[in-house]
Formats: sequence, C-alpha cells, structure tokens
Amino acid sequence: MSVRSIIATGLLAAGAVASPQWGGGWGYPKTVTVTSDHTVYKTVTKTGSCSGSSVTSFSSSSSHSSSASTSASASKSGSSSGSSSASSSASSSTSTVATTTTTSASNTVPTTTLLATATGHPLDVAAKAAGKLWFGTAADIPGTGEAQDPYWAAEFNSTDFGEATPANIMKFVFTEPEPNVFNYTGAEQFLSFVEGTGKLVRCHNLIWQSELPTWITNPTVNWTNATLTAALRNHVTNLVEYFGDRCYSWDVVNEAFSDNPAGAYASNVWFDTIGPAYVVEAFDAATQAVKAKNLAVKLYYNDYNIEYLGNKSYAAQNLVTELKGRGIQIDGVGLESHFIAGETPDKASQMANMQAFINLGVDVAITELDVRLNLPPNATTEAQQVLDYYNSVAACVAVGDGCIGVTVWDFDDEYSWVPGTFPGQGYADLFLSNGPNEPLTRKAAYDGCLQALTGAPESA
Ligand code: XIL
Repeated sequence: MSVRSIIATGLLAAGAVASPQWGGGWGYPKTVTVTSDHTVYKTVTKTGSCSGSSVTSFSSSSSHSSSASTSASASKSGSSSGSSSASSSASSSTSTVATTTTTSASNTVPTTTLLATATGHPLDVAAKAAGKLWFGTAADIPGTGEAQDPYWAAEFNSTDFGEATPANIMKFVFTEPEPNVFNYTGAEQFLSFVEGTGKLVRCHNLIWQSELPTWITNPTVNWTNATLTAALRNHVTNLVEYFGDRCYSWDVVNEAFSDNPAGAYASNVWFDTIGPAYVVEAFDAATQAVKAKNLAVKLYYNDYNIEYLGNKSYAAQNLVTELKGRGIQIDGVGLESHFIAGETPDKASQMANMQAFINLGVDVAITELDVRLNLPPNATTEAQQVLDYYNSVAACVAVGDGCIGVTVWDFDDEYSWVPGTFPGQGYADLFLSNGPNEPLTRKAAYDGCLQALTGAPESA
C-alpha cells in the first residue's frame, strides 16, 4: 500500500485525532485527523544506550528482509533508479510490522522505525520530472562535520538533491562580523563543496532578527533610523553583489512577521528602530544591487506559519503587493514548513495558500521542510510523519509551476537543528544514523516525498 493509497482509502477520515502541540514557535497550530496505518514499511529497531554505544538491528515482515548492511548501503549506493520502485515495492510488502531486538546495554530505549522501500537516489530526478527545479536540502557547512562525514557527503552528493541552502554560514553574524568588514571565508567553503555538483544554491539570508553580530544588537552608539538603515543597506548590497549569480535566489528578509498577534511585524532591532520600512529598504537595496550588476538572482521573502491561509500568510501576501506596487523586485515567497507530525496543514490548505501567492505574480518554494515528532517516536507518529511529508510535497507538485521546488532542512537526524531547538522533539528528517560517520538509514518519510513527486496528485 502506498502513501497515496493510504490516503485514498479514507484513513484520513477514519483515524484518531492528534492533540495540538502548539508552542508558539515553528509549527502549525491545528488539530488534524491522523492515520495509524503503518503496516506497509519494513522496520528497524534502533537501540541507544546512555553509555554512548548503540546497536542497530533490522528485521522485516515482508519478503524483502533486510539487514543493517544492506539497508545502509542501499541508502548510499546504487544508481539514480527513477521512481517507480517505491510504490511497487511498498505495495508488495506484507501487512505486519514486527521487529525484535535485544541489547545487553542497560538504560536502552528502543524505538521502532518505519523504513523506506525506495532505492537509488531518485528524489531530485523525480522532482525535475514533475516540473520542479529541484528537490534540495540545507547543509550546515562549515561547522558541523557534515562535509567530512562520508555517509552524509555521499548522500548529499547523490541525485536526491539538486539544490543546497547554507543553514547558517551566509547569515549576518558570519558575513559581517564587524561593521563593514565582510568575511566570506565560510560561505566560500560551503560553495566550494556545492559548486561543481550542479546544485543550485538558495542563498540564506540577508536580514533576520537572529544570528546577528553584537555590533548590530548591542551597538556602542545607539542606532537611529538613518544609521541602521545605512548599515542594513550596506550589508544587503555587499552580499548580493559579491555572490552574484552564484545564488539562484536570496532570502532577502527572513521571518519579519510575528505569531502573536499573527501577521503583525515582529519586534526586533530592525523593526524597533526603522519600523516596517526596514523590509522595503532591504528589498530595495537588493533590487538596486541586482540592477547594478545585471544579475538574474531571484529575491525572496521567507517565513514560517505562512504555509496555510491565515493572518500571517495574509501579511506576507500584502508585503508582496506593496513591494510590487513600489516597483521593487520580489520574485518569490519561501514557505519554511517546519512542521510537527499531526499538526501539519493538509494538502488542500497548502495548495490554496500557495495559489494565493502565485496569483500575486510570485513563485513559492518549500524552503525548510522538516516534520518533527515527540520523542521517542512510535509507529503511529512515524506513519503520520510519512503522510505529512507527502502532503507538503504533493501540494507543491499539484499547484504546478508556481511552486518551484522543495528543500528539506537537512536530511539526516544526526545534524538536524530540531533536538537542540525543541527539547523533547526530533526524528524530523528523512534519514537516521547511529552517529557521525555512520551509515545512513532511509526512513519511510523518504517514500512519502518520492510518492508525492511521482504519484498522480489528484488521487491524494
Ligand atoms: C537555524 C539553523 O538550522 C540552526 O543551526 C541555527 O542555530 C538557527 O537557525 N528558520 C530559518 C533558518 O530561516 O535560518 C533557521 O536555521 C531555522 C528556522
């Protein structure tokens, strides 16, 4: 049974109701109906111990029994196989999830993992076949050891990913650590890892309230509207001109709007000093830099909780209208999509929201997709996660060319930002491993993405 057929058989209507876990941060504050049908995937039982050692063993109720080594190698080797294997192998699996494992370590906490059945590295291939520019991923290079992890690097370099977003290294604190002193060393390391692989780069981000240097947040002389505007414009101009068309796009302003009240401007050094005009100034400076250097780079507004219609999405829509009305360049809106399993807007909601932006004459992209769970995961929450990944990717496919691509916010739980940001939550990415420099195991969430990219969208 495929993810699509899980949905098509009505389990959405018949399942249990998940309780909302809205915490005011990245997530979706709604209750949705979930399915507990998790029987189509092979399973792995991972046991971790407090001593730091861990054991992973695999078993499967299907005829495709797997071992640790074969599953791991399947996630890293093999050719780009196209996309038909996912649903066929999923449907050939039997309907019982059963796995056992033993460990001699004390204080172990076993978790059962639904495994993907897809092989090869078809995600970006399938995305392009579906008319998208990419299926991409964030990469936290340099700084996390990702690039030095051979398993992470092999997967990153595979045809699963046609785009990369620097998770941190192009942010203000790294690129302008002192006033008008620009440091592109780390960003160049990122780009040297990515360029030559054929991947496009979403450059991220120019103006945000976080990851700012202290000379911005704690100035020796208080900012005035004029002095901070000048600093803002100088930063934007320098980065856009320096990186040029090595960036497919720039997230010019990130997360300007608040959740409380939804759609108001968030209080931060930019807004508190300059007012809402800071967003216009940033886009205007970027527009001028694009013109000055005759660049093709696209300019984006990027935010979370704008993935469904509501006051925050309306505020972003109004911003698009305002910038266009002023003759300032804005090409797209990034829908971050940091979701919580079971609290994710459904496919129709995401499509309606995407269409609202597209109708204003901009593209949309899913820019930071991950779907986190309360730890430890269980088969029900993992199955929900598969469906949630499916719905977001399927919405991007179904809405047509206006949704240009899907980027996950890293693909490996080992390097995910989630556990450090949302205590008690994790398991948000498409792969897991036993630690750095350990083989990756592909989760069923991977199949959710692949089936959305390859399946008939209307049947969901
Ligand atoms: C996150 C990074 O992943 C973390 O490593 C960092 O500590 C904080 O920022 N929205 C965004 C991203 O636009 O820049 C954030 O990235 C996640 C939320």
